[in-house]
Amino acid sequence: MNKKILLLPGDGIGPEIVSQAEKFLRHFIDNGKLDAALDFAHLGGAGYDATGKPLPEETIAKAQASDAILLGAIGGWQYDKLPRELRPERGLLGIREALGLFANLRPAILFPQLADASSLKSELVAGLDLMIVRELTGGIYFGQPRGIETRQTDNGTEKVGFNTMHYSESEIARIMKVAFEIAQKRSGRLCSVEKANVLEVSELWREGAIAASKKYPDVELEHLYVDNAAMQLVREPKQFDVMVTGNLFGDILSDCAAMLTGSIGMLPSASFDENGKGLYEPVHGSAPDIAGQDKANPLATILSLEMLLRYSLDEAALADSIKNAVNKVLDKGLRTADIMSDGMTELGCEAMGDAVLAELQ
Ligand code: IPM
Ligand code: MG
Repeated sequence: MNKKILLLPGDGIGPEIVSQAEKFLRHFIDNGKLDAALDFAHLGGAGYDATGKPLPEETIAKAQASDAILLGAIGGWQYDKLPRELRPERGLLGIREALGLFANLRPAILFPQLADASSLKSELVAGLDLMIVRELTGGIYFGQPRGIETRQTDNGTEKVGFNTMHYSESEIARIMKVAFEIAQKRSGRLCSVEKANVLEVSELWREGAIAASKKYPDVELEHLYVDNAAMQLVREPKQFDVMVTGNLFGDILSDCAAMLTGSIGMLPSASFDENGKGLYEPVHGSAPDIAGQDKANPLATILSLEMLLRYSLDEAALADSIKNAVNKVLDKGLRTADIMSDGMTELGCEAMGDAVLAELQ
């Protein structure tokens, strides 16, 4: 059956890295290995430039009609002065919300070929393979009320900024289900991260985790406060296997975990709705400082495509072939600038994409 794949190149290095992944899709399609049609739409700054909106209606419609979505990255300095509603970030948050992509899976895997690139001693990270399950459509990112208001104080008026961290039992239950099922398929250990010593919303989160755990007697549940979790991640990351946490804590901890692997340029992610429809994107951002210079690392996007083929299109063999090709390229000592080290060969974005593709053929 013909599958619809939507590509959202976005901003900064987004177009260069997505066009590397696109080569793989075209290769599979041209060789009769994949029955799929590709389409493109604008998101983020690209959406604003094309239509005046970071999330154009056409993008939502195409995303809703597609079987899977591959996103590059969004954001750029030129948009920093725009009103919040028009900034690229709003496009990303908007598409997550519009598609109900509440479950964000962010693996942090250390590639053995890149063991020296970690910010930690190699013995602390050798074999590191952890999965952060981040709730993506709730919490303080979306809670109401929010805003900046001028308020009366004893000494006149001043501006006050406020946001609301909000989680309902059902939002907690559905992300717990995802996390427990992943933990079940992995080591059977799950660490739930919150701040229940201070926040009511976290107290409810912890209750929700405990309630869910009754249905998964084979999964060992642990609770950590987010400050301790951050410390443990950089102290002894291999104690973790699957972590589940809310939107803001997950944003912070996933960047921290990514750095432990030595290159955020290597890490893919997936976001799913209730029916398993997925949006796939590299964990890294749009890197405007190197945009258009052919310096970006396309591997996280290529590995995001790997996840897309595996989870949304059920094409495990094609996904495996991509994974193997990436490993072969790393084994050969080919590197982009961000993962470069002594004695290795440095390639640009395009050449790296081609090198991986060549291993496939
Ligand atoms: C991420 C990013 C986004 C987020 C920004 C760009 C809105 O940091 O995907 O982690 O905070 O979720
Ligand atoms: Mg982030």
